[in-house]
Amino acid sequence: MSKTKGIAKVDWAEISPEEQELLERAEKALEKAYAPYSGFRVGAAIRLKNGEIYTSNNQENVSFPVGVCAERSLLAYVGANFPETPPEALAIAAKRKDENEPAYVTPCGHCRQAMVETENRYQKPVKILILMPGREVYRIAGVKELMPLTLDNLID
Ligand code: THU
Repeated sequence: MSKTKGIAKVDWAEISPEEQELLERAEKALEKAYAPYSGFRVGAAIRLKNGEIYTSNNQENVSFPVGVCAERSLLAYVGANFPETPPEALAIAAKRKDENEPAYVTPCGHCRQAMVETENRYQKPVKILILMPGREVYRIAGVKELMPLTLDNLID
C-alpha cells in the first residue's frame, strides 16, 4: 500500500467486500455507457447511507460539451430521488472500447466540483474508490483530497 495524505493506492485483495462490491457495480455499469465519440466507457456506483447502491455511466453527445460524465449523472440522480439519504461512497471504473482491462481514470474538474456540493449538502465526506489498471484501487477519503481551496460557501 502506498499512501499520500488521504489518498491510498491499495491492492484489490486489501479492500473490504463492500468496497469490492461497489467497484464491481461500477465496472458492470460501464458496459452500458453511451460513448460513441471517445470510446472511453466510464461506470460509477454509489452507496447511500441506507446501504442501497445505484449506478450510472457516461452519456455522450454529438455536441461534445453536452455529454455527461458517469459521476455527475449519478450524483444528480441520487440527489434528485433520494434527497434525504446521504451518499457514503462513490466507485468509478473505466475501460476503452473493446478492451477489458481497467483504464486509468480520475474524475474531471466538473465532477470534482459536483462532489464538493454533495459533501457540503450532507456535511459529510464521500469516500471515492477508483479501479485502476492491474485492478489496483485508489481509495480517497473525500473529494477535498483531490481539490484544495474549494468554492463551497456563498452564504457567509
Ligand atoms: N468521463 C467520465 O464519465 N468520468 C470520468 O471520471 C472521466 C471522463 C467521460 C467523459 C467522456 O464521455 C469520456 O469519459 C472521455 O473523457
